[in-house]
Amino acid sequence: MNILGISHLEPSSFGHYTSVAMLDDDSNLFAISEERYSRIKNDGGYPSKAIQICLNQKNLRLENIDKITVGFGLEKQHMGKKIEEKFCSYAKDSGFKKTSIERKNPIFYDHQYIHARTGYALSGFKKALIICLDGGGVDNGEPNSGGMFLADSGDIQPIKYFPMYHSLGLTYGAITEICGFTMSEGEGKTMTLAPMAKNCNEEDQEKIYQHMCRIFPNFKGTNVKSNGGVTFTGKFLHDTTVVSVEDTRLLLLKRLYHKNLIAWAAQKRIEDILIDFVSKAVEETGIKNIIFTGGIFLNMIMNMKIQQKFGHKINLFFNPLCSDHGNAIGAALEQYYQDTGKNPISPYMPLYLGSSHSNEEVLSSANRFNFKITKVNKIDTAIDLIERGKVIGWFQGRSEFGPRGLGNRSILSLATDEKYKDTVNEKVKKREAWRPFCPTIIEEKSEKILVNSTYAPYMILGFEMKNPELYPAVCHVDGTTRPQILKKDMNPDFYQVVKGVGGIVLNTSFNLAGDPIVETPHDALMTLKNSEMDAIIINDFLVEKNK
Ligand SMILES: [Fe+2]
Repeated sequence: MNILGISHLEPSSFGHYTSVAMLDDDSNLFAISEERYSRIKNDGGYPSKAIQICLNQKNLRLENIDKITVGFGLEKQHMGKKIEEKFCSYAKDSGFKKTSIERKNPIFYDHQYIHARTGYALSGFKKALIICLDGGGVDNGEPNSGGMFLADSGDIQPIKYFPMYHSLGLTYGAITEICGFTMSEGEGKTMTLAPMAKNCNEEDQEKIYQHMCRIFPNFKGTNVKSNGGVTFTGKFLHDTTVVSVEDTRLLLLKRLYHKNLIAWAAQKRIEDILIDFVSKAVEETGIKNIIFTGGIFLNMIMNMKIQQKFGHKINLFFNPLCSDHGNAIGAALEQYYQDTGKNPISPYMPLYLGSSHSNEEVLSSANRFNFKITKVNKIDTAIDLIERGKVIGWFQGRSEFGPRGLGNRSILSLATDEKYKDTVNEKVKKREAWRPFCPTIIEEKSEKILVNSTYAPYMILGFEMKNPELYPAVCHVDGTTRPQILKKDMNPDFYQVVKGVGGIVLNTSFNLAGDPIVETPHDALMTLKNSEMDAIIINDFLVEKNK
């Protein structure tokens, strides 16, 4: 049985980056986003390249796919039909008879439900409450902005869906726009901008916070029942969520306040809403395990606040596949569960789910560039270069699925001097100077470096640092950091490199600003050519610019 899961939303201008996952009988999972091969950042177009790459991995043809599943819940709507039509036309263009694909009847699963499935499958919990929040999706044919689910022994039961007019994702996205970034991709910048307002006077902070309370959907009327059900008993201040930058409430904000302060108030508001909501869920249900999923939970600082408040008394899991790209995997997992009653993935599995490339491919790609290429001991060479203050690209094995470089497509440098943050921002990533980087920390060192350290392998959870002054390249102005905590068996070669440079390294995804993360050796070599990086290590080769 070969299952092809797709996450794709028409029209593509919604900015959800399209992804595809393939799952077989032996639980082999391959997953990749269209952007990695189209080289268009956040590509939301039809995933023809990603589907082809999935098929190539196992030398399959479209006709060998047994089931096609989609994680958007749009079967009765025009957009769902359009996906089906596009799949048929792609099949036809690829030389297959349209009718043979039509007979496969793509299955369209509900959106929030599939967000819930990915988080549940990866968490390892048997019984859990799942809180899902995002910009919007469709379940039971109705648009919504999140939901709550109870999961037990594999089954997931929806309890309640949240209406679109409560969309925390769209509201935070609209504020992201007035801060000068782009909705659906700039929310992380808003989160990072927020602490820059820490020195503003308290009166201004109080005023803008009160203003922000009138903008965000009012969750205060939300009550969680003892059976996990949710009722909305309060009066909502507004009928509709803010989704437009033309909204008068937003225009007023923009006129009255600096963007740093706007970002600060939005971040505080979303944190307060979630903490209030989770408090009620914990108190009323007595549940011991909670999973957080949906695109809202890319907000690592909000996750940190939830972890700080509740992590000492209940088990929390923040899903690294929480945004819509993860629904390609979720749709395939759901189908696998429907067919077998089993979950094919292990808790906290590594996310190295994309393509790998042989040394022969590296050499063949390098022939097209005027670089010096040397076969080396990659671990020793990486340690030596990083310790000598170099910024290097590190390209090994299968690519990571999702937006983070977790040690297979990463740019690395020392974490111990602020100059490395500046160098990587200015000369390599070419992005704003105030933006911090994430570290990778080996598990054995994490308790020494982080306050209340807990296992967090995916860069989805923030922490406060015990001694921020020791690691200025990976610490933000508020003393927080967003690490990948690395166990040796998750990525043995990368672990050796991090251990070799003191147990902590600056690790940012291997790409330039505006580019998707590199997928192939050719992409990595192009990035070396177009940046001021010192060198890259691809598989067993050191590649340097000729001087
Ligand atoms: Fe979503």
